[in-house]
Amino acid sequence: MPVFHPLRVQSIERLTDDAAALTLAVPSELRDTYGYTAGQHIALRRVNEYGEEIRRTYSLCDPARSRPDTLRVGIRLVEGGEFSTYALKELTEGGTVEALPPTGRFVLAPRPGRFAAIVGGSGITPVLSIAATLLERESEARFCLIRSDRTADSTMFLEEVADLKDRYPDRFHLVTTLSREEQHSGLPSGRLDRDRLTALLPALLSPPAVRDMDGWYLCGPLGLVDGAAKALRTLGVPRARVHQEIFHADEADAANSAVAGSAPRPSGGAPAAIAGSATVNATLGGRGGSWFAREGETLLETVLRNRTDAPYACKGGVCGTCRARLVDGQVTMDRNFALEEEEIEAGYVLACQSHPTTPEVALDFDG
Ligand code: FES
Repeated sequence: MPVFHPLRVQSIERLTDDAAALTLAVPSELRDTYGYTAGQHIALRRVNEYGEEIRRTYSLCDPARSRPDTLRVGIRLVEGGEFSTYALKELTEGGTVEALPPTGRFVLAPRPGRFAAIVGGSGITPVLSIAATLLERESEARFCLIRSDRTADSTMFLEEVADLKDRYPDRFHLVTTLSREEQHSGLPSGRLDRDRLTALLPALLSPPAVRDMDGWYLCGPLGLVDGAAKALRTLGVPRARVHQEIFHADEADAANSAVAGSAPRPSGGAPAAIAGSATVNATLGGRGGSWFAREGETLLETVLRNRTDAPYACKGGVCGTCRARLVDGQVTMDRNFALEEEEIEAGYVLACQSHPTTPEVALDFDG
């Protein structure tokens, strides 16, 4: 099982008033462990003054490297966000942060073709790595980035994106829009929602170019990602070519989300989680165990009471770190913003959102 390692904070650069890039130094003996593909993220953790462990995942923004000497992530301050407040207001250069090795399936292995991304706010972070890696390693690839931010001052990684434009003028196409401010060039202000994108994308790229794109990468808040996915479906883009990663989903988003899914269920509607105790069998790190689940507990909570090495970060159904394969029994998931339909069909669930609906369930965190 991947384990946390303390990494030294090499630098903290202010990107905007409320965002910074944090660079962590990777010692030479850990460089193989922390190799990453463009688009992946790392989980960071801290133990607060009450002894509670806080974990958050942050995407890596530099181009992919198999033996990185540094890891650079973009962090935006979230109102009331304990980890982001700590990272931006308390952490200093020379300090230490514990990090898990990179993981994540929102990735693009460089290959020839045309790719595009629609990102909002800090959703630029993994896409910056994806675009830079692709354009650097594959001379037959093109990338179109459509980004939406609140204002120019709140836009993260402006310089890095401008640098891509300078380095690859023929292969990198940038379209910017600000939701709360007019700009001299780019699109008129306003939110990028489903209707706007359905009209805008064919005008920007031509209808066949939208449909035949080799991959679409959507990243940002749930509203933007959901709207963009629906617009692409309306425009005839096959589902398998659309990849999405949600950065944040609040309770209202969760209640209204069409992205939310559920684990495999027997026919006849969604069963309720079973009352009373269920038995949870779980395999992780090659070792199995069998434990009673308390009423109302998620599978992750049951496993964590017995195995502190169970993988998780957000506990909110967003990051996908707790993904496990359901090998026996049935569960119901409260919310799901991390798993694709194909993964659910293949039997994967989010342990942090799953409750048993059969007296016995078996999970495999290694599979
Ligand atoms: S821990 Fe993030 S989805 Fe479960």
